[in-house]
Amino acid sequence: MNDTDKFDSVRALRYESGRLHLLDQRLLPLQSTWLTLHDAESVAQAIRALAVRGAPAIGIAAAYALALDAQAHPSLRGAELRLALAEAFGALRESRPTAVNLFWALERMDRALAAGADAAGLLAEAGAIEAEDLAANRRMAALGAALLGDHAGVLTHCNTGSLATAGMGTALGVIRQGFAEGRIREVHACETRPWLQGARLTVWELLQDGIPAVLVADSAAAWLMAQGKVDWVVVGADRIAANGDVANKIGTYQLAIAARHHGARVMVVAPTSTVDMGTAGGGSIEIELRDPRELMELGGQRTVVEGARAWNPVFDVTPAALIDAIVTERGVVERPDAARMAEAFGSL
Ligand code: MRU
Repeated sequence: MNDTDKFDSVRALRYESGRLHLLDQRLLPLQSTWLTLHDAESVAQAIRALAVRGAPAIGIAAAYALALDAQAHPSLRGAELRLALAEAFGALRESRPTAVNLFWALERMDRALAAGADAAGLLAEAGAIEAEDLAANRRMAALGAALLGDHAGVLTHCNTGSLATAGMGTALGVIRQGFAEGRIREVHACETRPWLQGARLTVWELLQDGIPAVLVADSAAAWLMAQGKVDWVVVGADRIAANGDVANKIGTYQLAIAARHHGARVMVVAPTSTVDMGTAGGGSIEIELRDPRELMELGGQRTVVEGARAWNPVFDVTPAALIDAIVTERGVVERPDAARMAEAFGSL
């Protein structure tokens, strides 16, 4: 165990004996309940319902989902197995639109099939996707922590930790590493309305590992910056376009605007599986709209008058011009723009 491993104990996804086990993130932190899933359709449903969430974790779950269904076709491989899995591919593709890691993982599984994979080959590919994600997170943690400087005040948004990835996390990996290296003065976590990924998941995850985190209402972030409490806003991403625009959890954009006003810097931490060089700019990214009831209920209890309407986009796009650094496992792109992105990721 190295120093950082002490701060990385949580895991949310486990493939074992032909079943996918998911820590149900709808119930945390009040209950730790594991779901046991047998087929791709139930994994697609778990992704839609946010039982598993976070861009990299969605991709990993989708890859294992295909391996689950492939078990029913032990004698098929390659194109024939691809045909047998067509419905599973379709259901997974429809589960959530914004995180490109989902489509990246499905394409990688498709390529394995094109190369003749059978059920065992698909399981090996899913395992490789998971292992590579953990390795990428460890590399990004080191790169990102080095940018923090000393005694940094850090603000994060949503949940980008071990719950959202194969382990360690993206932005939360940088925070884990920064904390292990003694670089962080204080961590604040936005509650992340309406689904409360920050309040329910990030604060729980950090406290599991003994990292003190202070919760703030999303609407307190600018005021927190005005108190000089934030040197870095450190966030993840669901899709990074070819010009460096970043789609991430709703609220990231306003954090970046407030950060620029207060002289705080913005670090986006994401593996290359989140970089989508096929999308020119943020304007072309599909932003998921979810059920307005997520805004009108708390714990299943209606809080808004019957007949009211609500708009519930769950991601936004932060323009590249508001981002100071994009950290991937390949390195750091400072002040991203189309030319720097092409230089770093042109070969993707
Ligand atoms: O709706 P969610 O909870 O899946 O949204 C998650 C985020 O926006 C994360 O910031 C992003 O996926 C990066 S997770 C490493």
